[in-house]
This record gives sequence, C-alpha cells and structure tokens, in this order.
Amino acid sequence: MLDELKKLEKTALVALGQVDTVAGLDAWRTEHLGKKSLLTTTLRGVGKLPPEERPVVGKLAQEVKTALEDALTEARERVLALEQERAAKAERVDVTLPGRPVSLGRLHPVTQTLHRIYDIFAQMGFQVYRAREVETDEYNFQLLNMPPDHPARDMWSTFFTTRDGILLRTHTSPGQIRTMREYCPEPIRVILPGRCYRYEDVTARHETMFYQVEGLAVGRDITMADLKGVLAAFAKRLYGDDRQVRFRCSYFPFTEPSVEVDIDCAICGGEGCRVCKHTGWVEILGAGMVHPQVLRNGGYDPEQFTGFAFGMGPERVTMLKSEIDDIRYFYSNDLRFLAQF
Ligand code: DAH
Repeated sequence: MLDELKKLEKTALVALGQVDTVAGLDAWRTEHLGKKSLLTTTLRGVGKLPPEERPVVGKLAQEVKTALEDALTEARERVLALEQERAAKAERVDVTLPGRPVSLGRLHPVTQTLHRIYDIFAQMGFQVYRAREVETDEYNFQLLNMPPDHPARDMWSTFFTTRDGILLRTHTSPGQIRTMREYCPEPIRVILPGRCYRYEDVTARHETMFYQVEGLAVGRDITMADLKGVLAAFAKRLYGDDRQVRFRCSYFPFTEPSVEVDIDCAICGGEGCRVCKHTGWVEILGAGMVHPQVLRNGGYDPEQFTGFAFGMGPERVTMLKSEIDDIRYFYSNDLRFLAQF
C-alpha cells in the first residue's frame, strides 16, 4: 500500500512536468486529485484498513496529497508564464507597419463645380438665393412671358402634378420673379442654383433631374455691356484665361435681346472635334437683357430699371472641364466614377 502511494506520487509528478497548458493542468488535477482519482479513493478507504495500518497509510496519503497540491501550484505559475509568452508571440503588434488608410468621403463633382461658380460670382458681388423646386405654372411659364399654349413652352418638357397648375420647375428662371418680388425696389445681384426637372428620354446628354445656376442683376443703367463683361470674366475665370468667348444671337421668351455664350473648344483648340461637334465652339450658357414685361412682373418699372439674366448647367460645365461624355454618370452613384473627383 505504501509503495503504491509512493509510485502514484512519482507518476503524477512526472506527468505534471509534461503539462504546458492551463487546460492540461485542469485535466491533470481531475486525474490525480479529483474525486475519482486513486489518491482520493485511497484516502477514503483508510477507515476500512486494519487499525494498526490506518495511521501510517493515512499520514502518507495525506503527505502525497499535499505534495501534489504544492506541485500543482508551482506548475500553474510555470504554465501561465508559458501561455503568456505564447500569446505575446501570436498577438504581437508590429508598430512599424503603416496604418490602415481611412477612406475619406468627398463632395459630389457637381457640388464642387457649384462651389467654384459661387466663388467666382461672389467676387463680383452676387449673393446666392434659393428658390423652390415645386413651382406653379404661373411662375415657371406665365410670368416669364409664356402664356398657356405659347409655342415656346415646347422648349421645356414638363412634369405636371395631379394638382392643377403645380409642376416641377423646368428651369431656375422662375426664381427671377421670386427674387424681384421679394427685393423690389432694391437693386439685385443674385445667383439662383438648384435642381430642375424635365420629362425627357434619358440619354448621354439629357437627364430628368439636373442642376442649373441662374443669374440675375437688376438696377439702374445696367446694359448689355455689363452682361458681356460679367459673363466673359466668369468664363475666363472658370475655364482659363486663354479661352475665347463669343456671344451669339438667340431667343428666350423672358429676355430681349437674348444671347447664347460659347467658348472655343479647349479639347481641339478650336480646330473641330467630337466634343464641339466640329464647330470649334461649345455653348456654355444662355443669357439676355431681362424683358421689360418680366421686370414689370417682378414689380420693377422698366422705364427706370434694366437688368440681365443668364442660366447655365453645372453638369455640362463639369463635363466640359473633365471631358465626361455621358451625363448619366453623375446620378448613377457609381463610386468608380465619383472617386475620380
Ligand atoms: N431658363 C433657360 C433654360 O432653361 C436658361 C436661360 C436662358 C436662363 C437665358 C436665363 C436666360 O436667365 O436669360 O434653358
């Protein structure tokens, strides 16, 4: 019996020496010190031994138990240190590695163009005025010299709503009337940016939603020379000092006279290419002197006040500047396109 206990202690200690994980320690404890271990059963059996053997066996069994428990405490320290070392190796942080790049968002290309346009006009004293996107037939057409059934309405394919006379504005021009009615009889120098809507087949050049930037200056003694000076200065600041600017006669119901403004094609240098449709010029905006009736509709006396107005499409501006050949890229939310700006 005593020999057996000695042997048991030896085997257990040898086994413990080989354990190198916390899980292994637990398993060892169950096997050698647990309820079903040989040692525990021996200790329990002491009472059944002949009385003369009891003290000796009991004492030795108790000693073995203490020895194993002490050995376990020691082994635990050794194993914990080992595990820590292992974890430190496995989870090592290399502080010399470069950090993970944080991807930054950015402004939409059209928003960037809008900001550029605001900057240029701000330098010439124009403030930004915001007008509504849902308009009335009266403001979108009638007050701009287009009574019902006027043929000029064909230039603006329109989204009408189910409420009579309410529509999505087809251009930012109705904002001219709203500004004039708010500020009359003060002089005005504003730009009116915002979304417009047209009932159109979507193509490389047409979207059903797009932006416009309208401009309006009203005052005493404003002439066509002011219009030309402001728009030529704007075109050169936006597109570059070496761009040529030309004014062409045109027609809009709300201006008289009306012009369209072109710049020479930056892509072919005016020689003719696909972008300028082989004319050497690209149109950048429509403009004109505010029609006397439109001034009157805004509350101004055309005998005392004159003004000029213009309208441009920032998508088109962006397309020209960045050589984009399809307007549909702007609002299809493809990051491969948007991330290039
Ligand atoms: N509203 C016009 C359009 O959508 C653009 C325009 C032309 C605006 C001439 C103007 C202007 O203010 O004077 O096509």
